[in-house]
Amino acid sequence: MVKELNYTTITHVMESWESMKRTKNYETVAGSKLFRRLFDKCPQSKTLFGFPIDIDVDSPELLNSKRFLAHAVYLLEMIDTALNMLGPDIELLTDIMTELGKKHVSYGVKPDMFPIMGDALIYMLRDVLGDEFTDATEEAWKETYGALSADMIRSMVSK
Ligand code: HEM
Repeated sequence: MVKELNYTTITHVMESWESMKRTKNYETVAGSKLFRRLFDKCPQSKTLFGFPIDIDVDSPELLNSKRFLAHAVYLLEMIDTALNMLGPDIELLTDIMTELGKKHVSYGVKPDMFPIMGDALIYMLRDVLGDEFTDATEEAWKETYGALSADMIRSMVSK
Protein backbone atom coordinates (compact mmCIF):
# COMPACT_ATOMS: atom_id res chain seq x y z
CA MET A 1 0.00 0.00 0.00
CA VAL A 2 1.09 3.57 -0.70
CA LYS A 3 0.92 4.26 3.04
CA GLU A 4 3.87 1.94 3.73
CA LEU A 5 6.45 4.04 1.88
CA ASN A 6 9.09 5.38 4.27
CA TYR A 7 10.66 8.83 4.41
CA THR A 8 13.98 7.80 2.78
CA THR A 9 12.20 6.21 -0.17
CA ILE A 10 10.01 9.26 -0.73
CA THR A 11 13.05 11.58 -0.47
CA HIS A 12 14.99 9.61 -3.13
CA VAL A 13 12.02 9.67 -5.48
CA MET A 14 11.28 13.36 -4.94
CA GLU A 15 14.91 14.44 -5.42
CA SER A 16 15.42 12.49 -8.62
CA TRP A 17 12.07 13.67 -9.96
CA GLU A 18 13.03 17.31 -9.26
CA SER A 19 16.32 16.72 -11.02
CA MET A 20 14.51 15.34 -14.04
CA LYS A 21 12.21 18.33 -14.14
CA ARG A 22 15.27 20.54 -14.66
CA THR A 23 15.89 18.75 -17.99
CA LYS A 24 14.83 20.95 -20.92
CA ASN A 25 11.40 19.94 -22.23
CA TYR A 26 11.42 17.10 -19.72
CA GLU A 27 7.79 16.14 -20.25
CA THR A 28 8.22 15.59 -23.97
CA VAL A 29 11.67 14.01 -23.67
CA ALA A 30 10.79 11.70 -20.78
CA GLY A 31 7.28 11.01 -22.02
CA SER A 32 8.35 9.85 -25.46
CA LYS A 33 11.16 7.68 -24.05
CA LEU A 34 8.74 6.07 -21.60
CA PHE A 35 6.07 5.27 -24.15
CA ARG A 36 8.48 4.16 -26.84
CA ARG A 37 9.80 1.57 -24.38
CA LEU A 38 6.31 0.54 -23.24
CA PHE A 39 5.09 0.04 -26.81
CA ASP A 40 8.25 -1.89 -27.68
CA LYS A 41 7.81 -4.32 -24.77
CA CYS A 42 4.00 -4.47 -24.81
CA PRO A 43 2.72 -3.99 -28.37
CA GLN A 44 -0.91 -4.61 -27.41
CA SER A 45 -0.82 -1.46 -25.25
CA LYS A 46 -0.51 0.62 -28.45
CA THR A 47 -4.14 -0.07 -29.27
CA LEU A 48 -5.24 1.27 -25.86
CA PHE A 49 -3.76 4.62 -26.86
CA GLY A 50 -5.35 4.60 -30.30
CA PHE A 51 -2.45 3.32 -32.42
CA PRO A 52 -2.47 0.25 -34.68
CA ILE A 53 -0.76 -2.73 -33.00
CA ASP A 54 1.71 -3.13 -35.89
CA ILE A 55 2.90 0.51 -35.98
CA ASP A 56 6.71 0.73 -35.75
CA VAL A 57 7.78 2.26 -32.38
CA ASP A 58 10.40 4.32 -34.24
CA SER A 59 8.08 5.53 -36.97
CA PRO A 60 7.86 9.32 -37.33
CA GLU A 61 4.09 8.90 -37.45
CA LEU A 62 4.12 7.68 -33.86
CA LEU A 63 6.95 9.76 -32.44
CA ASN A 64 5.61 13.00 -33.96
CA SER A 65 2.01 12.23 -33.16
CA LYS A 66 0.37 14.86 -31.00
CA ARG A 67 -1.78 12.16 -29.50
CA PHE A 68 1.26 10.11 -28.49
CA LEU A 69 2.89 13.11 -26.78
CA ALA A 70 -0.35 14.20 -25.15
CA HIS A 71 -0.73 10.80 -23.52
CA ALA A 72 2.92 10.71 -22.49
CA VAL A 73 2.74 14.13 -20.83
CA TYR A 74 -0.59 13.22 -19.24
CA LEU A 75 0.84 10.18 -17.49
CA LEU A 76 3.92 12.04 -16.25
CA GLU A 77 1.77 14.82 -14.86
CA MET A 78 -0.20 12.18 -13.00
CA ILE A 79 2.94 10.73 -11.46
CA ASP A 80 3.92 14.28 -10.50
CA THR A 81 0.54 14.80 -8.82
CA ALA A 82 0.86 11.48 -7.03
CA LEU A 83 4.35 12.32 -5.73
CA ASN A 84 3.12 15.64 -4.40
CA MET A 85 0.49 13.78 -2.42
CA LEU A 86 2.84 11.23 -0.83
CA GLY A 87 3.20 13.23 2.38
CA PRO A 88 0.17 14.47 4.34
CA ASP A 89 -2.44 13.48 1.72
CA ILE A 90 -1.49 9.81 1.66
CA GLU A 91 -4.96 8.52 2.64
CA LEU A 92 -6.58 10.55 -0.13
CA LEU A 93 -3.93 9.35 -2.59
CA THR A 94 -4.71 5.71 -1.76
CA ASP A 95 -8.42 6.39 -2.44
CA ILE A 96 -7.56 8.11 -5.74
CA MET A 97 -5.38 5.18 -6.87
CA THR A 98 -8.18 2.76 -6.04
CA GLU A 99 -10.65 4.73 -8.18
CA LEU A 100 -8.06 5.09 -10.95
CA GLY A 101 -7.58 1.32 -11.00
CA LYS A 102 -11.31 0.81 -11.62
CA LYS A 103 -11.21 3.32 -14.50
CA HIS A 104 -8.27 1.47 -16.04
CA VAL A 105 -10.39 -1.67 -16.32
CA SER A 106 -12.72 0.26 -18.62
CA TYR A 107 -9.74 1.49 -20.70
CA GLY A 108 -8.87 -2.16 -21.38
CA VAL A 109 -5.69 -2.14 -19.24
CA LYS A 110 -4.71 -5.55 -17.83
CA PRO A 111 -2.92 -6.04 -14.48
CA ASP A 112 0.09 -7.64 -16.21
CA MET A 113 0.73 -4.38 -18.12
CA PHE A 114 1.64 -2.57 -14.88
CA PRO A 115 5.08 -4.19 -14.38
CA ILE A 116 5.91 -3.44 -18.04
CA MET A 117 5.01 0.21 -17.51
CA GLY A 118 7.14 0.14 -14.32
CA ASP A 119 10.16 -1.23 -16.23
CA ALA A 120 9.67 1.44 -18.91
CA LEU A 121 9.61 4.11 -16.20
CA ILE A 122 12.91 2.89 -14.69
CA TYR A 123 14.46 2.62 -18.17
CA MET A 124 13.44 6.20 -18.98
CA LEU A 125 14.70 7.59 -15.62
CA ARG A 126 18.07 5.88 -16.01
CA ASP A 127 18.37 7.21 -19.55
CA VAL A 128 17.50 10.81 -18.62
CA LEU A 129 19.36 11.00 -15.27
CA GLY A 130 22.49 9.00 -16.14
CA ASP A 131 24.91 8.73 -13.18
CA GLU A 132 22.47 10.53 -10.91
CA PHE A 133 20.21 7.50 -11.09
CA THR A 134 21.87 5.45 -8.35
CA ASP A 135 20.95 1.95 -7.17
CA ALA A 136 19.25 3.45 -4.11
CA THR A 137 17.18 5.76 -6.34
CA GLU A 138 16.20 2.82 -8.53
CA GLU A 139 15.06 0.82 -5.50
CA ALA A 140 13.05 3.80 -4.22
CA TRP A 141 11.29 4.18 -7.59
CA LYS A 142 10.51 0.47 -7.80
CA GLU A 143 9.00 0.59 -4.34
CA THR A 144 6.96 3.73 -5.06
CA TYR A 145 5.66 2.66 -8.47
CA GLY A 146 4.99 -0.79 -7.01
CA ALA A 147 2.92 0.71 -4.19
CA LEU A 148 0.91 2.99 -6.50
CA SER A 149 0.21 0.25 -9.00
CA ALA A 150 -0.57 -2.29 -6.26
CA ASP A 151 -3.44 -0.07 -5.07
CA MET A 152 -4.73 0.21 -8.64
CA ILE A 153 -4.37 -3.51 -9.39
CA ARG A 154 -6.10 -4.49 -6.14
CA SER A 155 -9.19 -2.53 -7.14
CA MET A 156 -9.05 -3.96 -10.69
CA VAL A 157 -9.08 -7.59 -9.62
CA SER A 158 -11.57 -7.20 -6.77
CA LYS A 159 -14.18 -5.62 -9.05
C1 HEM B 1 0.78 3.63 -11.49
C2 HEM B 1 0.48 3.50 -12.78
C3 HEM B 1 -0.46 4.38 -13.56
C4 HEM B 1 -0.95 5.62 -13.28
C5 HEM B 1 -0.64 6.51 -12.08
C6 HEM B 1 -1.86 5.98 -14.35
C7 HEM B 1 -2.57 7.17 -14.43
C8 HEM B 1 -3.51 7.48 -15.38
C9 HEM B 1 -4.36 8.65 -15.36
C10 HEM B 1 -4.39 9.69 -14.28
C11 HEM B 1 -5.13 8.65 -16.45
C12 HEM B 1 -6.15 9.72 -16.84
C13 HEM B 1 -7.57 9.28 -16.92
C14 HEM B 1 -8.33 9.14 -15.64
O1 HEM B 1 -8.30 10.03 -14.78
O2 HEM B 1 -9.02 8.12 -15.53
C15 HEM B 1 -4.78 7.46 -17.18
C16 HEM B 1 -5.35 7.08 -18.35
C17 HEM B 1 -5.00 5.98 -19.06
N1 HEM B 1 -4.05 5.04 -18.70
FE1 HEM B 1 -3.01 4.99 -16.97
N2 HEM B 1 -1.91 4.97 -15.27
C18 HEM B 1 -1.06 3.98 -14.83
C19 HEM B 1 -0.80 2.80 -15.48
C20 HEM B 1 -1.26 2.49 -16.74
C21 HEM B 1 -0.87 1.31 -17.49
C22 HEM B 1 0.07 0.21 -17.00
C23 HEM B 1 -1.51 1.39 -18.69
C24 HEM B 1 -1.43 0.44 -19.86
C25 HEM B 1 -0.34 0.09 -20.44
C26 HEM B 1 -2.31 2.60 -18.68
C27 HEM B 1 -3.13 3.03 -19.70
C28 HEM B 1 -3.97 4.10 -19.67
C29 HEM B 1 -4.93 4.44 -20.73
C30 HEM B 1 -5.16 3.65 -22.01
C31 HEM B 1 -5.58 5.62 -20.34
C32 HEM B 1 -6.67 6.36 -21.09
C33 HEM B 1 -6.04 7.41 -21.90
C34 HEM B 1 -7.02 8.13 -22.79
O3 HEM B 1 -7.64 7.48 -23.63
O4 HEM B 1 -7.11 9.38 -22.67
N3 HEM B 1 -2.13 3.24 -17.48
N4 HEM B 1 -3.80 6.77 -16.51
